[in-house]
Amino acid sequence: MRVLSRRALALAALLPCACRSPTGTAPSLAPASPSLKHDPHSFAAPERIAVRHVALDLTVDFEHHVLHGRTQLSLARHDPRADLVLDVGGLAIDSVTECTTKRPLHWDLAPPQPILGQALTIALAAEPCVEIAYRTGPEAGALLWVEPSGTSGKRKPMLFTQSQAIHARTWIPLQDTPGVRFTYEATVHVPDGLWAVMSAENPQRPPVDGIWRFKMDQPIPSYLMALAVGDFAFRAIGPRSGVYAEPSVVDGAAREFTEVETMMATAERLYGPYRWGRYDMLVLPPSFPYGGMENPRLTFLTPTVITGDRALVSLIAHELAHSWSGNLVTNSTWSDFWLNEGFTTYVERRIMEELRGAAHADQLWYLGRKDLVEAFGTDPGPDTRLALEIAADRDPDDVPSDAAYEKGALLLRTLEQAVGRTTFDDFLRRRFARRALQPTDTDAFEAEATADLLAPHAGATSGAMSAVTLASWIHDRGLPGGVSPAVSARATELESLATSYATTGAALSTTRWQTLDWVIFLRALPADLTRERLLAIDRDGLLAAATNAEIAMYWLPLVVRADARELAPAVEGFLLRVGRRRMVTPIYEAMVARGEPWRALARQTFEQARSLYHPVTRDTIAKIVGR
Ligand code: BES
Ligand code: ZN
Repeated sequence: MRVLSRRALALAALLPCACRSPTGTAPSLAPASPSLKHDPHSFAAPERIAVRHVALDLTVDFEHHVLHGRTQLSLARHDPRADLVLDVGGLAIDSVTECTTKRPLHWDLAPPQPILGQALTIALAAEPCVEIAYRTGPEAGALLWVEPSGTSGKRKPMLFTQSQAIHARTWIPLQDTPGVRFTYEATVHVPDGLWAVMSAENPQRPPVDGIWRFKMDQPIPSYLMALAVGDFAFRAIGPRSGVYAEPSVVDGAAREFTEVETMMATAERLYGPYRWGRYDMLVLPPSFPYGGMENPRLTFLTPTVITGDRALVSLIAHELAHSWSGNLVTNSTWSDFWLNEGFTTYVERRIMEELRGAAHADQLWYLGRKDLVEAFGTDPGPDTRLALEIAADRDPDDVPSDAAYEKGALLLRTLEQAVGRTTFDDFLRRRFARRALQPTDTDAFEAEATADLLAPHAGATSGAMSAVTLASWIHDRGLPGGVSPAVSARATELESLATSYATTGAALSTTRWQTLDWVIFLRALPADLTRERLLAIDRDGLLAAATNAEIAMYWLPLVVRADARELAPAVEGFLLRVGRRRMVTPIYEAMVARGEPWRALARQTFEQARSLYHPVTRDTIAKIVGR
C-alpha cells in the first residue's frame, strides 16, 4: 500500500471550541482562533481524521522489558476518503483490525526517519474505530525499566514513562502531536505485588482481581499519556490530593508536600477552578530525568525535590500550574513551547508569592534570571527567541529551553507590571477559561495581548510595554533593553558574603542555611576561587556527601573546576545515583572541560551509568562525553 499524501496546513473548523466559561459568565475575549499550525514533529493529518478516544489494554513484561497489548482508537472522520496516519516509534505491529467486526485492515509502515520514527498508514473501511495489536521496541524512548537496585526498596523493579515531547509514539501508536486531544481508558496487567498508576483516575488501593483500570474523561494531548508500575504506596495529603511513592519514601514525601492543598486553593483563587478532579503526585527514583512532569491528575516527580526543608516545593507549584497553562491551554506545536513553560513559570512564582511571601518569590525570580543570563551569554543565539521554528530534523528535547521558561515568564511579569496586576490576572483568568482544552500558538497570543492588554491601556503602558516592544520580546534574540533587574535582598546579602569569602576567607556560619541559601551562595562564588578556599567551605563534608542533590549540582562542578581530586568519588557517586538531566549535565560538562583525569572519569562513569539513565538523559550526556 502506498503512503498517502501529507496534510494541509489549516485545521480550521475541525477543533471544536470548548468555549464555555467554567464560571458561567460570558468570556469577553475575542473568540479563540480555531486554526492550527502544521506540526513538523508528527506524521498525523488530524484535519482529515482525528483520534478522539483511546482504549488501551497493556501487559507489562518486566522480564523482556516490553509492553504488549492492544489499543483501540475511535476516530472522527472529516474526510471520508482519507487514510488514517499515526506516529509510531519502533513499535512492532502485530495486527490492525476494525474494533467490532475484527475485520483486518490494510496498513503500511513507512521507513523510519531520524527523530520522528515511522508513519503508520491504515486504510479504513466502514467503522470509525481501529484496533492495533502491538509490542514496544527495545529502544522505546519513553520507557525506563528500573532494576530493583535502582529503587529505594531494592527488591522490586519499576517502570515509568516520559512521553513529552514526542515519545508517546514509542509506547502507543497514536497521533503524537499536542494539537490533537482525546479521552482515554486503560486496562493494565502487571506482575503480582506491583501497583500501576496513570495520568488518569487512579485506584487508591489494589483491585481485587489484580487488573488495573483507569479512565481519563477530559480530552488530553498525547504527551500527557503516562504510566508507572512499581512497589508504590499511597498517602492522602488533603481531600483532593495525595502522594504515591515507594513505601520507604512516601511519608517523607507527604510531609514535604503538605502545602499542596493551599497551592491548589491559591491557584484557583487567581486563575479559576481546578478542572481535573484530584491532584496526586508520584515520586519516582532518582533516575527520573526531569524535576517534574505535569501528567494530568498525577504529577511525576524526582525524589531530589525532597530536601526536608520544603525549599524546593516551587517545583510542585510549577507542575500544578500546568493544570492551567499547558494541560488546559496547550502549545499547538513544540515551537510554541514557551506558551506552556513561560506561563507556567510565571504562575508558579505567583503561587509561591501568595504562599511564602514576596521575599521568597524574589529569590525564585533572581535564580531564574541568573539561569537566563548565564544561558544567553553575551551573544544570544537563535534559540533565545520565544517564537521558534523547530524543524523536523531537530528533536524538541534538544532545544535549549531557558528562553521558554525564564524569558517567557519575564515577559508576562513585564506585561503584568505595565498594565497592573488586577488587569493582568483578569486577562489570564479569561484566557484559561476561553481556551480551555484547546491548542494555541504564539501568533494568537501576540494578537490577543495587543488587542486586550496593550490597546486598552495604551496611555498607561507606553514606554514600558508597547506593541513594538511586545513583538521584540517575542521575535528577537536575547532580552530587550531596559528590563528591570531581578533584585532579592537575601540574594544580595549572600552574594556579598560570597565575594568577601573569596577575598578574605573569613569563616562562614552556615549552620542555619537552607537549600536556597546554599544555591545562591555557591552560584555567586567567583570562577577563580582557589582549591583550598573551596574545600574550606565544606569543613564538615556535608556538601561532598551530596545528600541534597540541588546543592550538590552546584557544588560538584566547583569541585571539578578546582581540580579537587580527593572528591572524585563523591562526583562519581552522584552521577551513578542521580539521573535528572538538569543536575548531571553541568557536572559532566565541567569534567569534560577540565580535561584529564576528569574527562576520562566522565567517560568511564557514563559507561557505568548509561543503563541507569532514562533515554532523555542518556542522549544528552552521550553528546557531552562524545560516546
Ligand atoms: N513539562 C516539563 C518537563 C519537560 C519539558 C519534559 C520538556 C519533557 C520536555 C515540566 O513541567 C518542567 O518544566 N519541569 C522542570 C521543573 C521546573 C520547576 C522548571 C524540570 O524538570 O526541571
Ligand atoms: Zn513545566
